[in-house]
Amino acid sequence: MSLSDLISKPDLVAGVTHIYLRSIGSPTDIPAPETSVQDRLVRDNVISGDCRAISDNFGPRRAYACLEWYRQIQKPDYWSEFLGRVSIRRKSVLDIGCGPGVTVAQCIERGAASVVGLDSDIEYLSIASELIGGDSRASLCNATAERLPIRDQSFDVVVCRVALNYMPLDTVISEVARVLKRDGTFCVIVHGFWYYYRMLFANPRRRAYGLSVIKNGLVRLVKKGERERFLAVRPLSSAARRAGLHMQEHWSPASRSDYFGAVFRRS
Ligand SMILES: C[S@@+](CC[C@H](N)C(=O)[O-])C[C@H]1O[C@@H](n2cnc3c(N)ncnc32)[C@H](O)[C@@H]1O
Repeated sequence: MSLSDLISKPDLVAGVTHIYLRSIGSPTDIPAPETSVQDRLVRDNVISGDCRAISDNFGPRRAYACLEWYRQIQKPDYWSEFLGRVSIRRKSVLDIGCGPGVTVAQCIERGAASVVGLDSDIEYLSIASELIGGDSRASLCNATAERLPIRDQSFDVVVCRVALNYMPLDTVISEVARVLKRDGTFCVIVHGFWYYYRMLFANPRRRAYGLSVIKNGLVRLVKKGERERFLAVRPLSSAARRAGLHMQEHWSPASRSDYFGAVFRRS
């Protein structure tokens, strides 16, 4: 079954998402798929015969695409209405670290004039191209956020969803400021400390992962380090200010939340 067929069926998307989250040791409140859904996913070689893992044939990136589809389309308030915070309609939008392209699809859905999805991972871009399916308003670009192959002041809006944690903060934010038009908007969602802290109570693999990211985050407090790390509001807003971007708002759904979001304006 192709990914675009699969995402048109909410029960299959929820089923894949549940199995993917369980397989990586992440807690989930999505109910386990019913037997008929499991049978369908096994038959189409999306999940393993024992319904415990994503099949090698389908792969973790497609499963992640389902997770994002589930969160953004079936549960649009999951990120506290990330895109609802900026005006997208008739705007030119750049999505940095677009991964499987679900946010790109969402921007089109919300009336953007044009959207460029940029990612360094070619496999994610091929999934994004499957999902976006030749819409003339969307294009994809294989490049790194550290060196955007984009002219100065080209975009009204730059968005970046849970990707800045993996990127060198100062370099990428000054690239964002460079490609934004005057008065342009930069909207981000990042994982904070508590997202990684909660991994410490998951399975051993996830625990080791969480520990290493927390260590990277602590190292970055005292010296520059660019590996995956948690981010906090103040260092993010300081990096943005140095680049000429001013924070307009930041939000998180609760204290000790897994993530927070922020909106910046270029002066
Ligand atoms: C957790 S995924 C988020 C994907 C997408 N924004 C979403 O919300 O589903 C992080 C993405 O950032 C991309 N990425 C990480 N470092 C990057 C870099 N330096 N330049 C461009 N993309 C990068 C990864 O390839 C991956 O697709």
